[in-house]
Amino acid sequence: MLSGIGPAQHLQEKGIPVIKDSPGVGKNLQDHIAVGGLTFLIDPKIAIVMNRLVNINSALRYALTEDGPLTTSIGLEAVGFISTKYANQTDDWPDIEFMLTSASVNADGGQQVARAHGLTDEFYKEIYEPINFKDSFSVFPMMLRPKSRGEIKLRSKDPFDYPLLYHNYLTHPHDVDVLREGLKAAIAYGQTQTFKRFGARLHNPPLPNCKHLPLYTDEYWECAIRQYTLSIYHYSCTAKMGPPSDPNAVVDPELRVYGVSGLRVIDASIMPTITNGNINAPVIMIGEKGADMVKNYWLGQRYQRRKKRRADRILVTSFNSTSINQSI
Ligand SMILES: *[C@@H]1O[C@H](CO)[C@@H](O)[C@H](O)[C@H]1NC(C)=O
Repeated sequence: MLSGIGPAQHLQEKGIPVIKDSPGVGKNLQDHIAVGGLTFLIDPKIAIVMNRLVNINSALRYALTEDGPLTTSIGLEAVGFISTKYANQTDDWPDIEFMLTSASVNADGGQQVARAHGLTDEFYKEIYEPINFKDSFSVFPMMLRPKSRGEIKLRSKDPFDYPLLYHNYLTHPHDVDVLREGLKAAIAYGQTQTFKRFGARLHNPPLPNCKHLPLYTDEYWECAIRQYTLSIYHYSCTAKMGPPSDPNAVVDPELRVYGVSGLRVIDASIMPTITNGNINAPVIMIGEKGADMVKNYWLGQRYQRRKKRRADRILVTSFNSTSINQSI
């Protein structure tokens, strides 16, 4: 948009000369969001707890033997996929991903994680301070196919100004439904015999702004979701690939920007809809595929030129001088 490719009216408002009016640029913003803070306390001292993880012993152990608690993947141990009742039960296409962590927001006493999750001090104090540094695990139900759509706009034509980000999370009722059912499934998961062996129990005091609702009803969980849902930072889809008939398509199936020559977009923004899982591998695939298409284009041209030169030479060597003159 700063370069002049985007919705013409918006660019003009910001004083940017329009190179190509492309109404889809910045639209169709999608992301994965998950319910946060779902905490199960456990008895054994096996979870990630900050003062047990970050100390001189674990630093020495890591330095000397390259193992121990500092080798963990910041607690994200495993993922799992389930279908809620809103997914098609026969086509094996889950709509929720569980992110399973061997810690919860209480593990560092409210210092960093609570801030990263955007919790207010009051909220943290009321819900998590009583279990500061206690051993726990957490399940983050992440919605895979959001129906809400957001938008990115420019604040100004100054590239150092942050853009305006309208995520519009949970504006489509379907997204709330799926997260609610994912949340219930996560609670059931934490209550299985497997976790009971560790003394797993849900830490579930009523949330500050949901106390007016009957506890643990659908209405209560919907309120809880609106209290504590977080981005998994999978922002994507704002320069979507599509056929020329779609006015909001920004790039063609070879990732070339419609109406601008010599320009491709090769990143998460070209996804028409967000992929059904963590986007890291798909983004690498887009990068690889895009690189191949660039390579094929240029190598293809060079190959064509080389082939033509070779054909000329063959022509030159296989004819007498008269026909050489003719062929030249
Ligand atoms: C559910 O999935 C099956 C198998 O892919 C498909 O045949 C069917 O049409 C789908 N149903 C709905 C309601 O989308």
